[in-house]
Amino acid sequence: MDIVETIKARKSIRAFKPDPIPQDILKQIIEQALRAPSWANTQPWEFAIASGKKLKEIQEGFVERGMPQDSTVDVARPYEYPEPYMARIRALAPKDRAEMTREEMEARTIDNFRHYGAPAVIYLLVGRDFFYQSKGINVWSLYDCGSAVQNIMLLATNKGLGTIAQAQAVAYVDIVRKVLGIPESRLIALGIAIGYPDWDNPINQSRTQREPLDSVATWYGFD
Ligand SMILES: Cc1cc2nc3c(=O)[nH]c(=O)nc-3n(C[C@H](O)[C@H](O)[C@H](O)COP(=O)(O)O)c2cc1C
Repeated sequence: MDIVETIKARKSIRAFKPDPIPQDILKQIIEQALRAPSWANTQPWEFAIASGKKLKEIQEGFVERGMPQDSTVDVARPYEYPEPYMARIRALAPKDRAEMTREEMEARTIDNFRHYGAPAVIYLLVGRDFFYQSKGINVWSLYDCGSAVQNIMLLATNKGLGTIAQAQAVAYVDIVRKVLGIPESRLIALGIAIGYPDWDNPINQSRTQREPLDSVATWYGFD
């Protein structure tokens, strides 16, 4: 696939087949993704990859703890959604969140906690001392990580794999930290579930929309 086709083909996968991914393929993807640019080539990313029994242990821990009301996170989530952002979230939900029953919300959370059936999760780690600095948060380091994460997702798509970036995969970082033995010096910033998509599942058939170019790009000096 060429780059444009790959970008268009990538989408968040929410139902995976259980088939394991050969470790060599995961190694190739992550190694190639490391070509991402970064602030002064600081390369602030590290990855912890979980599969098999370790991943199951994490999933069971999350499900046991339940809805993330008392979530433990290393990187704070947004809690305020002014317009137009809220409208975009509403367009995404199959049903307005306000109309969802508690059972429906819980079922959705549990699917997230089980990584939608993915056989592996790539956790993004960032050095705590590089992210939390004396003058505030070094947001630049997450720009860099975002490039690497996008590379992972595109490379995976190109190999017939599917991915989904998951904030919910790091809703209880204490569990991930304990099961994988990740030190406190490393923030666990994001989980990327990866596996072979189950294309027969209707959840993988919907496609999210994007705002038209003219509403997000303003041009200067082109006339
Ligand atoms: C940082 C980040 C965290 C996300 N967390 C979750 C998540 O916890 N659960 C989920 O189902 N989707 C999650 N998503 C997927 C987004 O909902 C998805 O990317 C967005 O709706 C656009 O859809 P697309 O990826 O199919 O283009 C996350 C995406 C990003 C970039």
